[in-house]
Amino acid sequence: MLHTLFRTVIRRSMAASASASASASASTSGPEPARVPIPKNGVDYRGTVVLAPMVRSGELPSRLLALKYGADLVWGPETIDRAIIGTTRRLNPHTNTLEWSRLPTSKIKNPHLDPENRESVLYRIHPALEKGKLIYQMGTANPELAVQAAKMVAADVAGIDVNSGCPKPFSTAGGMGAALLKTPDLLCRILTSLVEEVGKPYEIGISVKIRILDDPDHTRALVERLVKTGITGLTVHCRTTPMRPRERAIRGQLKMVGEICRAAGVACVMNGDVTSRTEALALIKEFNVDGAMIATEAEKNPSCFRSDAEGGPHEWKTNWKTVVAEYMKLALLVENRWGNTKYLLGQMIPGREDAYKAMNRSKCYADVVNALGLQDVDVDGEHLLAKARVVDGHLGIPKEELSKAQKRQRVKESQALEEQEQEQEQETGQDRDHGLPDAKRVKVPDSAVVDGSMASTAEVATALAA
Ligand SMILES: Cc1cc2nc3c(=O)[nH]c(=O)nc-3n(C[C@H](O)[C@H](O)[C@H](O)COP(=O)(O)O)c2cc1C
Repeated sequence: MLHTLFRTVIRRSMAASASASASASASTSGPEPARVPIPKNGVDYRGTVVLAPMVRSGELPSRLLALKYGADLVWGPETIDRAIIGTTRRLNPHTNTLEWSRLPTSKIKNPHLDPENRESVLYRIHPALEKGKLIYQMGTANPELAVQAAKMVAADVAGIDVNSGCPKPFSTAGGMGAALLKTPDLLCRILTSLVEEVGKPYEIGISVKIRILDDPDHTRALVERLVKTGITGLTVHCRTTPMRPRERAIRGQLKMVGEICRAAGVACVMNGDVTSRTEALALIKEFNVDGAMIATEAEKNPSCFRSDAEGGPHEWKTNWKTVVAEYMKLALLVENRWGNTKYLLGQMIPGREDAYKAMNRSKCYADVVNALGLQDVDVDGEHLLAKARVVDGHLGIPKEELSKAQKRQRVKESQALEEQEQEQEQETGQDRDHGLPDAKRVKVPDSAVVDGSMASTAEVATALAA
């Protein structure tokens, strides 16, 4: 049933893509432009309106919902190279999802944890529903690790993208994200290594996502180098590194970036303040680029991808519940981690609504389905509430409340474990997570704490990119 739904969506999406292509190519005249060949298992970014990579907000159900509403491609949240290396890839038969998971060290020796629940899932995809649509984005500052990490997922995705735009210190301090804009030699080495050692053997495309630089001449020089690395696509976020998300995107350099990409045959995707498919198609035409990427609007209202022919985006303020009901179906379908679902509901439900407060008090899927009045929504012939109860059972939520004394005891135990492991590392000179000398530890940022509990390792790893 779900497959039928997705087939319809994908057909619509392809029709929309074709119209975007037509608009894009209608704006160019003269000889057929150069085109870097798109590998057999890869995708062309031309004529697409796509979901941006977003830590937390780009987890599996959010991507599926964007596809359902007509996104042509979806980027997964940035995942740091070292985080995915060493994971185990498994098919989850309950949800038909592919999962890359590992034992975080803090849990390896914790006797209180049920052995079955000790692994953390770093990355999840739905191979059937995301087939040919998913781009894996990595955080990296090292060509060898980038290749190693990319090989972990290359057979299961349609492309690999390198994040060269994250401005947060935890990313730039490691030389990743926007720091790569200042080390173009390294960025080019990463891209060429990925093209040669992953793109070619796996027959997928390699791409990069950058920000503009203050000086357009510097942006020009950088893009001219990047398009010669063998990449098939380049996304340009039209903000400089110091710019905050609420500052308006600057589009003054966009045509120039598009022209350089076009001359080299590399697809150019614009990003920054795009709020709907219709607007995206107009901007693609106006700036003569190949595609457009949407982030914050899609976080709040994933129906922004819906074409006008399908009715356009649902009006967020009055119609958020329609979108939230669709999101809940998908979150339950893939048994999404509760903390992540709650976080996304917080983005999608307007804060002034009573439902927002009720959602905030919820401790499990059944709670929130009741709070939002979605009990009787039909999901594959089953009521949403019944489905929610089953999923709550699988996820073991709501969790039993710990007394203050129990919480203190847990903290003490994990501190003791940490100290013991640090002593061992000092003796052996080995990093405990990776077995690599001098490897960086993935620190848990405060933002990775959800509902008073730690976020998944996936969020911890990807939070480095937020
Ligand atoms: C919650 C959130 C998480 C993000 N995570 C990533 C990421 O993992 N990788 C990345 O390249 N950009 C990330 N970004 C930046 C977006 O992909 C995008 O470049 C930026 O938000 C501008 O697009 P917009 O104006 O449509 O929001 C993130 C943005 C948000 C809001």
